Amino acid sequence: MSHGLFEGDTPLAGTRSWLGEQALLLRGFALPRVAVLWPALQAVLAQAPPRHMLTPGGQRMSVALSNCGALGWVSDGRGYRYTPIDPDSGQAWPALPHAFVDLARTAAAEAGFEGFVPDACLINRYRPGTRLSLHQDRDERDFSQPIVSVSLGVPATFLWGGRRRADRVERVPLFHGDVLVWGGVDRLRFHGVAPVRAAAHALTSDERINFTFRRAA
Ligand code: SIN
Ligand code: FE2
Repeated sequence: MSHGLFEGDTPLAGTRSWLGEQALLLRGFALPRVAVLWPALQAVLAQAPPRHMLTPGGQRMSVALSNCGALGWVSDGRGYRYTPIDPDSGQAWPALPHAFVDLARTAAAEAGFEGFVPDACLINRYRPGTRLSLHQDRDERDFSQPIVSVSLGVPATFLWGGRRRADRVERVPLFHGDVLVWGGVDRLRFHGVAPVRAAAHALTSDERINFTFRRAA
């Protein structure tokens, strides 16, 4: 299918909704680009395979992650930070594929963040049962730059909280091809992912892949 839509994917492709004053959900926005994104992603993951990092508290993360770009987000017993080197390989993280940068820039502009140039892309891999607990993205230097999140594969329930951990959490289903941009007054909203339910997807089998583009430095 030329539009890249699989059975079971969002019936809402092309629609958009604001989840906050400066948080925009673009349903199916990445679908026309999946045919280019997917092989580029495979090349990145061959160079920097997803791994379960340790939290500063010594727990293995449920999600497996990798990175591409000049900087990559890492976690270990010393804390969270961005590094130019993949600690597993001792090499630089794979470069950000052009198709990734272009998607991030275009999506950010739709939400009013013109001129977004990511230098980091965190790739999260979810399998059945994988979850991501509520957190803020605050390891980046400049909070005036947004976060751009792209979802591929099986659906998940995104947990969209407020500026305080205790604030009410909205449950937002995210489907293959959906792109979510948050920045400005919504930049430090708490968010996470509920345990992913077992499902099958034509492209990813039982996996959900999420990339988040950031301006880290
Ligand atoms: C993240 O917060 O880093 C990932 C969010 C998601 O997987 O949708
Ligand atoms: Fe996050």
